[in-house]
Order: sequence, then structure tokens, then C-alpha cells
Amino acid sequence: MKKYNVGIIGATGMVGQRFALLLANHPWFNVTVVAASPRSAGKTLKEAIGNRWAMQEPLPEKLENLIVMDANADVEKIASMVDFVFCAVDMKKDEIRALEEKYAKAECPVVSNNSANRGTPDVPMVVPELNPEHIEIIEAQRKRLGTKRGFIAVKSNCSLQSYVPAIHPLRKFGVKNVLVCTYQAISGAGKTFERWPEMVDNVIPYIGGEEEKSEREPLKIWGKIEGNEIVNATSPNITAQCLRVACSDGHMAAVFVSFENKPSKEEILECWKNFSGVPQELKLPSAPKQFLNYFEENDRPQTKLDRNLEGGMAISIGRLREDTQYDYKFVCLSHNTLRGAAGGAVLMAELLAAKGYFD
Ligand SMILES: NC(=O)c1ccc[n+]([C@@H]2O[C@H](COP(=O)([O-])OP(=O)(O)OC[C@H]3O[C@@H](n4cnc5c(N)ncnc54)[C@H](OP(=O)(O)O)[C@@H]3O)[C@@H](O)[C@H]2O)c1
Repeated sequence: MKKYNVGIIGATGMVGQRFALLLANHPWFNVTVVAASPRSAGKTLKEAIGNRWAMQEPLPEKLENLIVMDANADVEKIASMVDFVFCAVDMKKDEIRALEEKYAKAECPVVSNNSANRGTPDVPMVVPELNPEHIEIIEAQRKRLGTKRGFIAVKSNCSLQSYVPAIHPLRKFGVKNVLVCTYQAISGAGKTFERWPEMVDNVIPYIGGEEEKSEREPLKIWGKIEGNEIVNATSPNITAQCLRVACSDGHMAAVFVSFENKPSKEEILECWKNFSGVPQELKLPSAPKQFLNYFEENDRPQTKLDRNLEGGMAISIGRLREDTQYDYKFVCLSHNTLRGAAGGAVLMAELLAAKGYFD
């Protein structure tokens, strides 16, 4: 595989820092550009991040002296220096939509963690194991944008990265109703305990916009390409409550599911054990070997013990049992800034690279 030069837009943020760690030694991707707001532009990446570094491992040496560019003012220059960019910025939605489109129109593909374009009908929202075929909509998007190379592809919200993969292989039994409660880590808000001391020893029962995303986005992932757009699936019915809990990393979900044709517990376990997707088939560098992992122990998965399974790219599931109101209930866990954000975006970029979308 040839090496691609890439930029990280939002490199100073929580997700941007994850990108720096994941990409520093990536076999296919070489970081040549980092960019952020005008506040950071002109500084080295190390200076711009300052005391906001939130990762366990240090900032990779080969990135620390890159000069941060201005994500908005330097679009054309950045586009000329890279094959594509990863984007994770904290800005208003309409500003993000405009920024991502500006890169795409400068013929620079954008692999985005932001929510601004998730609802755009010709923008694929891809979990590479679940709906890799949605990248084929890119041709229609390029026509709309009038570009040859440029396009936008997005990741879904981090909250749903555990329960949607767990439910996906069970759809053959006709998933009817899903109720999910998520227990989400503070890094999902771009925060650490130092920067959010109110979260120590606390639970906050509200995360703005999260419940709507958790209910709506799975239907796009399970949707189909029809003509020039992705048409959302109309089922299952999903209802969600999302809570912020006092964990640094890792989103847990408690899930209740009912089916048209109720499977046995053994059938569900078989589906999880045997499930693998295109990333596993293509042996993409960031793909976990076993995507869905069931724990037999009653007290697993645990956020602290299991979030880093397979480099934080695998999903952990446990406590599958029958329910008195739904057919089954279980819990699942994924790492929100790895599988749920930067890692998921890197895997999507690997899929796009393997399929020739950056050439
Ligand atoms: N954290 C997660 O688990 C997670 C998961 C999935 C998706 N996301 C999404 O990823 C995005 C970033 O999240 P985060 O947690 O990394 O946020 P964050 O830690 O607050 O970082 C925000 C980044 O955006 C940059 N930025 C802010 N205003 C800007 C502007 N006007 N122009 C250009 N860059 C600007 C910041 O640069 P400066 O340092 O220069 O201010 C910083 O690099 C958000 O859209 C979020 O919804 C986050």
C-alpha cells in the first residue's frame, strides 16, 4: 500500500490528540499537517496543546514540532500538502458544515468525527464492519459538489458504537424495539477530571443532543443507497437515555431488545462470535481480529478493565439474559475516543484507501 500524507484538523483537541497517537506510526498514513483555531496557529503542536494534553502516552516526538496551521484560513494550502484530512473540531454546526465542504471543494477528502454532516443524505456515515457499502454514495456526492477527488465521509456518534454493532448481526431475527441507557465517559465531552472537577463522584443525567443522535443515527447506518442518497431504515424503534458518568474513557450501554422472531440465547451468542466484516476480510491495519467479544463473567465488561480490548477497537458485550418486558437484555462497552472517534475514523480511512478513494 502506498503512503498517504494526511492532515489532522482539530489536532489540539481531545480527538485530535488521539489521532496524533494513532497516526504517528501508521503503516499507510503520514501526518504532514496539523491545524486548529487561530488561537493555536503559528505555534508548535506541543506549545499549542500546552497543559491540555490528556492522553496516557506522551505526544509523539515526530509531531511535536509541526507548526499548527489555521484550519479555516489555510484550507487551500493544506489541501495542496495532503492527500486527505481527518477533522474533529469544536465549532458551530453550520461553521463545521461550511469548513468541511470547503476542504472537499478544494479536492481534499475529509474523514470527519463531527456531527454536522451526519444527516446529509449523500454523506456516508460508516462503521466499517457494518455498512462499508455506503461509501459508494461518494460518487453522487462528488457530482453534487462538482469535485473529482474531494468528498466528506463521517463517523457516527460515539454513544452508539457499542450497541449498534451488537444489534447488527441480530437483525436477521427482526429487531423490533430497542431501549438503551448509556453511561458515557467525560472524554466524550473533550474533558478530563482536572478540567471538569464537578464530574468527580458525579452523574449528570443530560448530554445535549445525545439521545436524539443515539436514536436517529443507527437508522442511517442501517439504511440503503437509493439513487443519489442514503435512505434511512424505518425500524427498529429506538429509545435512548444518555448519562454522563465519572469515568475518564469508555461508553457503556445497557440494552433491551425485542424481536419479531425471538432467537435462543445460544443463537445470539453464535451471531456475535461469528460476526466479522470487510475490515477483517481486508486485514485493515486498525481492524480488531475479533470485533464482538462476549464475556461470560457476570461482572464484565467493566469500563476500566475492558475499554482497551484490541487497542480500543473491539466491542465488549456481557450479561445476556431474558427480560420480563423485552425479549433480552445485555450490556456492551466501547472506547469512545478510539473505536468511538479517532480509531473509528482511522479504520474508515483505511477502508477508503483500500478501495481507492484517495487516489
Ligand atoms: N471526544 C469524543 O469522544 C468525541 C467522539 C466523537 C465525536 N467527537 C466530535 O469531535 C469533535 C471534536 O471533539 P473534541 O472532544 O476533540 O473537542 P475539543 O477537545 O474541545 O477540541 C476541539 C478542537 O477544535 C478546534 N477548534 C475550536 N474552534 C475552532 C475554530 N474556530 N477553527 C478551527 N478549529 C477550532 C480546537 O482548536 P484550539 O485548540 O486552537 O482551540 C481543538 O483542536 C466535536 O465535533 C465532537 O462532537 C468527539
